[in-house]
Amino acid sequence: MTDHFEQDEQTDRPEPEHPARVRSFVRRGRLSSLTRDRMELLGPSRALPEGPFDPPAAFGRVAPVVLEIGCGHGHAAIAYAAAHPEHDLVAMDVHTPGLARMLADAEEAGVPNLRVEVGDAVLFLQERVADDTFDAIHLFFPDPWRKKKHTKRRFVSPTNLDLLARVLRPGGHMLIATDQDFYAAHVLAEVAQHPRFEASRAPRPAWRPSDGFEAKGLVAGRTITELRLDLVG
Ligand SMILES: C[S@@+](CC[C@H](N)C(=O)[O-])C[C@H]1O[C@@H](n2cnc3c(N)ncnc32)[C@H](O)[C@@H]1O
Repeated sequence: MTDHFEQDEQTDRPEPEHPARVRSFVRRGRLSSLTRDRMELLGPSRALPEGPFDPPAAFGRVAPVVLEIGCGHGHAAIAYAAAHPEHDLVAMDVHTPGLARMLADAEEAGVPNLRVEVGDAVLFLQERVADDTFDAIHLFFPDPWRKKKHTKRRFVSPTNLDLLARVLRPGGHMLIATDQDFYAAHVLAEVAQHPRFEASRAPRPAWRPSDGFEAKGLVAGRTITELRLDLVG
C-alpha cells in the first residue's frame, strides 16, 4: 500500500491538524482485505501526484477539468468520464471502500481521463488547489444532515461556497442533485446569500446513471431536484 492511501485509513481518530473543524462526513470502520487489495493494486495508477494539484501533470494533457465531491462508489464519475473523453475528472470521497469498488469498475470501463483522490474535499481544495482550477464541480446526493443540530455539517455552506467559488474558473459551474426537498431548499437559501453564485433548476444529466440514491429516492416517492450554480462576478 502506498503512503498516499495509508494516510486515509479509516479510523475514528480526529485529524490533529484540524481538531475543531466541523466535517460533512463520519468515518466508518476498518478496511476489508478486498478494499486494501484493490487500493494497493489499482490505486497508484489513478492517484493524483502528491502536493499541489497540477492537472497537466495528473492527466498528461491540457483539458477541461471537473471535480466530483463525495463520489461514493463512483458510478456517476465513471459514466461522466466515459461520456466526456475530452474532459478530465477527479473523483473524491473519504469513504475508501466505495473508492476501491470504483477503481475496480473503472478498470473494466477503461476511462483514462479519471483520477481518484481519497480524503476530505475541503482540505484538498484549501491546501492543494489553486484559484481558477476547475471548469465544473459535481455534488450528487450529498449527505443531507437532516437534524437541526447537524446543519453545520451540510456540505453546502457559506464557507464552502467561498472555497468552491475560488477554485472554479470564470464561467464555471456546479451541478448538485438531491432527493431531499429540505436540502434543495437549503442550497437555494445559501446560494441566494452568496455573491458569486446564481442558482437555477437544471435538467437531469443524461449521462448520469439512475441507480443508487436517485433510484431509492424515487421508489420512496421523493422528488429529485437538479440544481446548477453558475459562477458570476
Ligand atoms: C450520500 S453519499 C452519496 C454518494 C454518491 N454521490 C452517490 O450518489 O451515490 C455522500 C458521500 O459524500 C462523501 N463526503 C461527504 N463529505 C465529504 C467531503 N468533505 N469530502 C469528500 N467526500 C465527502 C461521503 O463519504 C459519502 O460517500
